[in-house]
Amino acid sequence: MMNLGIPPIIGHRGARGLAPENTLSGFRAAFAQGVFYVEIDAKLTADGVVILMHDETLDRTTNGSGRVAETPYEVIQTLNAARTFPDHPPEPPPTLAAALAVIQSVGGGINIEIKPCPGRERETAAAVIEVVRSAWHLPTLPLLSSFQRPSLEACRDLAPDLPRGYLSESVEDWAAEAKALGCVTLNLLWTTITPAQVPRLTASGLPVLLWTVNAPDAAQAFLTAGVTAVITDRPDIVRGS
Ligand code: G3P
Ligand code: CA
Repeated sequence: MMNLGIPPIIGHRGARGLAPENTLSGFRAAFAQGVFYVEIDAKLTADGVVILMHDETLDRTTNGSGRVAETPYEVIQTLNAARTFPDHPPEPPPTLAAALAVIQSVGGGINIEIKPCPGRERETAAAVIEVVRSAWHLPTLPLLSSFQRPSLEACRDLAPDLPRGYLSESVEDWAAEAKALGCVTLNLLWTTITPAQVPRLTASGLPVLLWTVNAPDAAQAFLTAGVTAVITDRPDIVRGS
């Protein structure tokens, strides 16, 4: 079986509860809690640069406005991505390449959620793969996940060696599709299952990752039940043991 190197605690969008989401300082906030594996959201700028950004628009997380897909990187790199933490020093939305460098500098790992703007599903996957190919040098590979099936299909077709995670908000619909896409993890919304259901899921042979678990007791219960990892905004309070 592929060594995915996934630890029990993964920082969500870096460490979203502690620092601005999808930023390099968010990574450092996770590292400060002993968490060196993070989940991020990857999107394309108008001119095809892969950046870290959750929303289709810039308005919620930055001091800019408008659609990411219509904004060139030249503009995006001048923005402050720390809008959700008003007292935080400003910093730009990072490129995926910069993010991979920081993660690798601590020997960490990353779950890259491919979060394409509508119509850019395959293009975003292809661009993410290109960045990973040129910028990732550790033996344990990034996990590529997506809600968008065309993005996962593109990953399967273009980079079959890179591990893929099947993201789903429903516990019932995943099995056949995840298999067809060659996914190696199930990344599920934690409120859709109970710890008692975990053995049935893990019987598939695929590691289960749950998002976004911010309650320490729930995290512990799911990990004890056999979940491989919980993805959390709060790596300061959600612990792996
Ligand atoms: O990858 C798991 C989780 O991040 C998916 O939801 O909306 O937080 O990107 P969202
Ligand atoms: Ca995400």
